[in-house]
Amino acid sequence: MIAGNTNRAYGWVARLFHWSVAALILGAIGLGLYSNSLPTGTEAQLQSVFAAFSWHKTVGVTVLTLAVLRIVWTLTQPKPRPLHPTRRLELFLAEAVHWALWIGMVIMPVTGWIIHSAAPGGFSRILWPFGQHLPLIPENADLAKALGHFHETGWWVLAGLIVLHVAGALKHALIDRDGTLSRMAGPAHRAPEPPASQASPLSHLLPILAALAIWAGTALIPAEQTEEPVATAAQPASGWAVQQGTLGIEVAQGGAPISGQFGSWQAAIDYDPTAKTGHVAVSIDIASLTLGAVSDNAKGPDFLNAPAFPTAKFAGDILPPATEGIPHIARGSLTIAGQTVPAELPFSLEISGSVAKAQGEMTVDRRDFGIGAGYGDESTVGFPVTIRFDLTATQQ
Ligand code: HEM
Ligand code: HEM
Repeated sequence: MIAGNTNRAYGWVARLFHWSVAALILGAIGLGLYSNSLPTGTEAQLQSVFAAFSWHKTVGVTVLTLAVLRIVWTLTQPKPRPLHPTRRLELFLAEAVHWALWIGMVIMPVTGWIIHSAAPGGFSRILWPFGQHLPLIPENADLAKALGHFHETGWWVLAGLIVLHVAGALKHALIDRDGTLSRMAGPAHRAPEPPASQASPLSHLLPILAALAIWAGTALIPAEQTEEPVATAAQPASGWAVQQGTLGIEVAQGGAPISGQFGSWQAAIDYDPTAKTGHVAVSIDIASLTLGAVSDNAKGPDFLNAPAFPTAKFAGDILPPATEGIPHIARGSLTIAGQTVPAELPFSLEISGSVAKAQGEMTVDRRDFGIGAGYGDESTVGFPVTIRFDLTATQQ
C-alpha cells in the first residue's frame, strides 16, 4: 500500500494516524473516567488515583503530539474525493463531524494540559521527560477550574461526535455497501473510483462553521452553580476591621508544593499603634478551603476533617517588635482538628493613617495536630504546612 493518499483512498500513513489517534482517544476517555471514579480514602488509594491520572495525561499528550503530526501530514496530502457528491446533506454532516473531530483531538488535550499547568500544586505527572507545564500558563486556580469544566463537558461532545462518525461509517458499510470503509480500513484497491465533483467554496466553509459552532457552544455551557465561599468577611472588631485579605496554606503533595486558600474566615483585631501591642483572634471555616484538585481530600476525615472540626482558631497576644523594622509576633495558640498547640506568628505591619497592612506566615507540623495520621511519611503529603496571610484593616 502506498504511503500517500490518492483521490480514491487514504494511504497507510493517514490510516496509521487515524487508527492510532482513535484508539488513544478512546483510551484517554476511559482512563479519565476511571481515574475520577477511584476511591480516595486511604494513602494507597490516593496513590492509585495519581498513577491513573498520570496515565490519562500521558495518553492525552500523545494524542496531541500525533494530532499535530497528523494535521501537518494531511495538509500535504490530497483528500479522497467524496463518493456521493450529490448527497449534499450527508456530505455536510460527514464533513462537519470530521472538522469537529479535528478540533476535538486538539482542544481536549490542550485544555487538559492547561489545567495541569494552571492547577496549583504538583498533581500526577505526565510520564515523559519533556517538562510538565506549558509555557506562559500562570498558576491560577480559577483558570484550572473553568477549563476543568470545559474538559469535563468536552469529552461528552467528543464521544458524541465519535458515535455519529462511527454510525456514518457503519451506514456506508451496512446499508449503502459503497466501499467507504475500504478507503480508511480495507484494501485500497477495493475503494471505488469517486466521480469527479465540483464543490462550491461554500460547501467547504459550512461544515467548518458548524464544527466551530459545536465547540463554541460547548465552551458556553455554564458550570453547575456551586456556592462560592464568602470572601473574607470583615468582622466588627474591637479596634480594627479586616477589609480584605487572603489566608492560605502550602504543603508538599507528592514532593511538589501545592497551595490553597480559605474563602471564609474572620479576624477580630485589637491593636494599639502607640504601645505596639494588642490581641488577635482568628476563626477559619475549614469547609471553605480550596486546595487544587485535592480540596475534598484535604477536608475529608484523613486530614482536616471539616464535618467533625468545622473551625480552626488562632488566638494570641500581639507583641511589639524588639527593634524597629523587624516583624511583630502574635504569640498564642492554634487549634486545628480539635488539637491546640502553642504557636508564634511573625508578621510585618505597615500603618498609614487609619489603614493597616499586615502579612505574615508560620510553618506548623501537621503531625502535631494528628492530621494525616495515616500518612506516616512524606511521600504523599509533607509534614510541614505553611500558613500565610495578607490583610488590610481599617481602624474603627
Ligand atoms: C476517536 C475516534 C475517531 C476519530 C477522532 C476519527 C477521525 C476521523 C477524521 C478526522 C477523518 C477525516 C480524515 C480526513 O479527511 O483526512 C476520519 C475519516 C474516516 N473515519 Fe474516523 N475517526 C475515529 C474513529 C473511527 C472509527 C471507529 C471508524 C470505523 C468504524 C472510522 C471510520 C472512518 C472512515 C471510513 C473514514 C474515511 C471517510 C471518507 O473516506 O470520507 N473512524 N476519521
Ligand atoms: C484526547 C485527549 C483527552 C481526553 C479525551 C480527555 C478526557 C477526559 C475525561 C473523560 C476526564 C474525566 C472527566 C470526568 O470524570 O468528568 C478527564 C479528566 C481530566 N483530564 Fe483529560 N482528557 C484528555 C487529555 C488530557 C491531558 C493531555 C491532560 C493533562 C496533561 C488531561 C488532564 C485531565 C485532568 C487534570 C482531569 C481531571 C479534571 C477534573 O476533574 O477537573 N487530560 N479527561
